[in-house]
Amino acid sequence: MNFLEKRIVEDGQVLSSSVLKVDSFLNHQVDPELMEKIGKEMAVRFQGTGITKIVTIESSGIAPAVFTGLSLGVPVIFARKQKSVTLQDGLFSAEVYSFTKQQTNTICLSAQFLTSGDRVLIIDDFLAYGEAALGLCEMVQQVGAVIAGIGIVIEKSFQPGRQKLEKKGYRVESIARIQEMKEGSLTFLTNIKEETFHE
Ligand code: G4P
Repeated sequence: MNFLEKRIVEDGQVLSSSVLKVDSFLNHQVDPELMEKIGKEMAVRFQGTGITKIVTIESSGIAPAVFTGLSLGVPVIFARKQKSVTLQDGLFSAEVYSFTKQQTNTICLSAQFLTSGDRVLIIDDFLAYGEAALGLCEMVQQVGAVIAGIGIVIEKSFQPGRQKLEKKGYRVESIARIQEMKEGSLTFLTNIKEETFHE
């Protein structure tokens, strides 16, 4: 198991066959040391691809994205789920359907911070149905920038996100890939052995 898989086994909670709770280090409380390791791992995986900007989406994508930006030495832009008072003109937007929440949200980012010359790495905390990542890719393409890859912290490989992104030709790198979840246990794609949570 890699460092993230170990942490998921130690501190994660399988809420159902499709939902993993990682509030203690990623989605509510954030572990900066873990985020630093994630940033370094993303930087290793995407080194040499000429990335000039990182794009993520609020809120849980921000921490891993910032540490990836630190490791790669590039700025980080986060898409917003709501327009803010300072974010008015020159916006790119995309519609993102959330299967979890069963609603469509318009996400947006300012045209000010991306140019057609940028090579963008998309970072997000979870990959489930791929809708958030596809929305981010759509906005980056509206600018005319190149998508160098998509870096995911936790991928639920039994859901169709990766397939959808790869079908569009994007390179996807996920630090932890979950093959299956059952109450109290989960299996990673790289492991044959089933991992049981320490409650
Ligand atoms: P998609 O983006 O891959 O299509 O997935 P989906 O619509 O299902 O995801 C909606 C929200 O739920 C996203 O966060 C996503 O990160 C999160 N999510 C999906 N599956 C899981 C899971 O198994 N565990 C956890 N903890 N989160 C999951 P969000 O609503 O944008 O939240 P936040 O980024 O503001 O924290």
